[in-house]
Order: sequence, then structure tokens, then C-alpha cells
Amino acid sequence: MRKIFITGGAGFIGSNAAEYFIKKKWKVYIFDNLSRKGTRVNLNRIHSKISKFYFGDIKDFKKINLILKKVKPNVILHAAGQVAVTTSIQNPRKDLEDNLVGTFNLLESLRKNKLKSKFIYTSTNKVYGNLSNLKLLKKKFRYEFKNSKKGINEKKNLDLHSPYGCSKGAADQYVNDYARIYNIDAFVLRQSCIYGINQFGIEDQGWVAWFVIASIMKKKFNIYGDGKQVRDILYIDDLCDLFHKISVSKKKNKSIIFNVGGGNKFSLSLLELINILKKKKLNSKFTYSKWRKGDQKIYISDNSKIINQFNWRPKINPNKGIDILIKWIKENKTVISKIF
Ligand SMILES: NC(=O)c1ccc[n+]([C@@H]2O[C@H](COP(=O)([O-])OP(=O)(O)OC[C@H]3O[C@@H](n4cnc5c(N)ncnc54)[C@H](O)[C@@H]3O)[C@@H](O)[C@H]2O)c1
Repeated sequence: MRKIFITGGAGFIGSNAAEYFIKKKWKVYIFDNLSRKGTRVNLNRIHSKISKFYFGDIKDFKKINLILKKVKPNVILHAAGQVAVTTSIQNPRKDLEDNLVGTFNLLESLRKNKLKSKFIYTSTNKVYGNLSNLKLLKKKFRYEFKNSKKGINEKKNLDLHSPYGCSKGAADQYVNDYARIYNIDAFVLRQSCIYGINQFGIEDQGWVAWFVIASIMKKKFNIYGDGKQVRDILYIDDLCDLFHKISVSKKKNKSIIFNVGGGNKFSLSLLELINILKKKKLNSKFTYSKWRKGDQKIYISDNSKIINQFNWRPKINPNKGIDILIKWIKENKTVISKIF
């Protein structure tokens, strides 16, 4: 049986990926320090189905190194880390250590032990900065790119904004370079906005889940800026499908960096999400605040490269994804309200 080792495996992306790979008959090993709220709920959900849970911190090289030498996974999905821009601004050292040193530790373990594991790194669109040099059109409910209709591709220059952008971007470059210099079989996925079930979204991170949770729980939420900001949103199952396609692929790639998101077709502004919720009989209560520093007014992934490489494309449209999310939140109201 093939083995996958998931850092951050009790988090949103990690725990969904764990379930996905279990269904595909892989042995799943999870490593997490359970620092994110809701991780214990996720862990309880998957604990009996996984091969082993390791409690630990990716900053601890000795520990992670010992475990990787023992498990020798076919694939490492690296999804652990500090995930919020706002938190990174309050505590940049922790952000740097979790995201950069944590990633470096995994790469070093692969290098030192000559492990052959495939390495998938969950990078972010934030490495492209706030894209303020791109011309935009302001429409009634959303911003649009004036020229880059297909979205942002991997040729765009890096422009690291915020400590989070810097730590994720630096780690992204380390992975790219370790692949080049030490022949590590790595993939860097610059993910846009991922959403779905088992996501305990908060104001700082996971806005789709946060808006839906808040609307169902009748909590007021904040919109920073004018609400016309747009993201391409990708439902978690589509991302897991891509993780799996990469994991089983035998192709060797020279260029290992890919933008990954819902693409132009599956893009949504904050106001458009609120309108969709209204049509589904959920009335959101919200207030407006000042723009947050470095926020992109619009980000859309150009998925062309990943589509060509892995014959993958997002299937679950926002309307369907939001329906699934609403159902999950309603069914888990008690647990979710305890977390918030
Ligand atoms: N969700 C998104 O929209 C999105 C978009 C782009 C990139 N990403 C990246 O994907 C990864 C997973 O994101 P997520 O949405 O699942 O977040 P999440 O917070 O749900 O998951 C992160 C997990 O890492 C764990 N963790 C944090 N610091 C750790 C440490 N030092 N050692 C061990 N475990 C630690 C947390 O407990 C949590 O379980 C992150 O690296 C994030 O930057 C996410």
C-alpha cells in the first residue's frame, strides 16, 4: 500500500486530503501540533481510519526527521503552517519559523536521508503581492482585470507582501531550489482560495466558510474595503483530486510551480457571495471597514499550466460548493458554535 504523510493533517486541507487518500486505499500518516481551533474535531473524525497520528511541531527537526526516516512515505503533502496574514503581522517571528523553518526541516530530512518521497507544497497566490500595477475595471458588484482576462500565470514576478507572503514565498522558492539542486521530486502549488467542509473559517482566513458560518449563526461579519474584491474559489474535493493526480503521476517535470484555483469561471466577489446566500434564504449581517494592507482587489488563477500537465480541472462550481458547505454547517451547528 502506498503511504502519504500529511503535515497539518488535522487542518482543513490536510484532514480532507487524509479522507480522500484513505478512500483511494492509501496508508495515511498525519503530523500536526493541533494549534488551530477545530483541529481536534477534525482529528476525531479521521483518527480511526488513519495509520498513525504524530503530535509534533514542524519546527522540531529531530522529531520530524526520525519520523520520516521510519515512515518513508511515497508522498509528503506539506500543509502545516501559520495561515493568516493578520497573525503574521502581529507575530512575524512565529510566522517565519512555522512556514519557512518548518518547510526547510522537511526538505533537509529528504536531502539528508536521500528519501525518494514526492513532495507537494501548499503555497499561495499571495506570493504575487497586491498586483496594484494591473489595470482594473470597477463593476457594480466586482472588480475585473482590464487586460489579464485569463488570470495570473506563473510568469508573473514574485512580489512578497506581508510577513505571511514572505515566509510562504521564501519556502516556495526553497522547495523549487531543492528540487533543482538536490533532485527532490517536488511540486509547488500556488493555491488561490480553497473552501469547503471541515473548514473552521475565521475573519483572518477562510472567508467563504466564515461568511457562510456567520450567516447561518446570525453573527455580524466585517467587509474590509468595498466588497467588490474577487477571488477564484476552489472546492476542496477538486484540490484533493489534484493532489492525487500529482501523487500517482510518473511524469518528471522541469518546471514544478503551478497556479491552482477555481479559475475565471469559478470566481466570486464578497458581494456576489452575499447575494448567493440571500438567494438561498440566508441573510448576512455585515459592516464595512477600511481596506486591509496589501489585500488584492482581485486575484484569479490562470490554471492553463496545471490543466495541461495533469489533465485536471475544477469541477465543483461555487453554487454547488456553497450548497455542500451550508449543509455541513447546518448538520454540525453545535460543534461549530463551540469552536467559535
Ligand atoms: N485554505 C486556503 O484557502 C489556502 C490558500 C493558499 C494556501 N494555503 C496553505 O495551505 C496550507 C493548509 O491550509 P489550511 O487552510 O488547511 O489551514 P489550517 O489552519 O486548517 O491547517 C494548518 C494546520 O497546520 C497545523 N500547524 C500549524 N503550525 C504548525 C506547526 N508549527 N507544526 C505542526 N502543525 C502545525 C495546524 O494545527 C493546522 O492543523 C497552509 O500552509 C496554507 O498556507 C491555504
